[in-house]
Amino acid sequence: MTDSSLRKVHQPVLLEEAVGMLQVIPGGIYMDGTFGLGGHTKEILKRSAPDGKVVAFDWDEEAIKLGLENVGSCRDRLHVVQRNFKEIDHGLKEAGVQAVDGILIDIGLSSLQLEAEGRGFSFNRNEPLDMRMDRRRSVTAAQIVADSTEEELADIFYYYGDEKQARRIAAKIVKERKKRKIEMTGQLAQIVGASIPRKFHPAKIHVATKVFQALRIAVNEELANLGEILEKVPDHLKPKGRICIISFHSLEDRIVKRTLARTQELKVITRKPITPNDSEIRKNPRARSSRLRVAERAA
Ligand SMILES: C[S@@+](CC[C@H](N)C(=O)[O-])C[C@H]1O[C@@H](n2cnc3c(N)ncnc32)[C@H](O)[C@@H]1O
Repeated sequence: MTDSSLRKVHQPVLLEEAVGMLQVIPGGIYMDGTFGLGGHTKEILKRSAPDGKVVAFDWDEEAIKLGLENVGSCRDRLHVVQRNFKEIDHGLKEAGVQAVDGILIDIGLSSLQLEAEGRGFSFNRNEPLDMRMDRRRSVTAAQIVADSTEEELADIFYYYGDEKQARRIAAKIVKERKKRKIEMTGQLAQIVGASIPRKFHPAKIHVATKVFQALRIAVNEELANLGEILEKVPDHLKPKGRICIISFHSLEDRIVKRTLARTQELKVITRKPITPNDSEIRKNPRARSSRLRVAERAA
């Protein structure tokens, strides 16, 4: 798929629900922690017109380039920061903003990253095992596969991927990497498949799905980043400002739920997470596991 066709098919997840919950007002200032292809930012800019602003973070240079094209004419009210969202303090300062009226975070991988060639996120193509969302970072998936102990690999697969066959897979990887370096996505997918007896192969997903997801979370330190930004949010939200977080993974959702609940300055708005309706899931099956949680800064 080309970049421009990707942009055309891009469907922001829980768009109406998340941007609605942000209670965007004309002239407001908002932070989008995960700019991606700019789907949510575009809607926030529309609702905050004529003079509202968005400070958008993304650490992926390619995502920023496409997101900017997608946002189009509202670009003059948008400030993009190429940083990890956990660096919220520095990013907002760079944009000349102290506190915002709302923050949106839509964590995980964009369809662009999954589909783009050469990023190493997908087992459907044979390419270098990279998986860095931010290519300025140093550790790739191939390095984790090469340098982790068998126990560390099993923990990554079990905890981040909920992979029940984690120990078997880790043992096979350690055996295979003694023979040759594991540097390609195809090699890893093949080793995972060969490590699990056929009768235990999942029926509905690719046998390597969970291992790839787990490695991606480890490479990008996704859970740690999420924990860090949530701790900093109260310092940057104006009174009555809201934080809306969309997550795709039960581990992430647990971190969001617990952190929001124990943060004194925040009042939880969603006792239960908001999930996509049937029509959204039909149009965009990727949205299936998404969950939105919202909290509000005390007045
Ligand atoms: C699911 S996509 C966001 C899609 C976006 N809401 C839209 O509608 O186009 C997630 C984006 O967040 C970025 N991202 C993930 N973790 C990040 C982090 N810790 N700091 C900055 N960007 C991050 C990824 O590079 C990716 O582009």
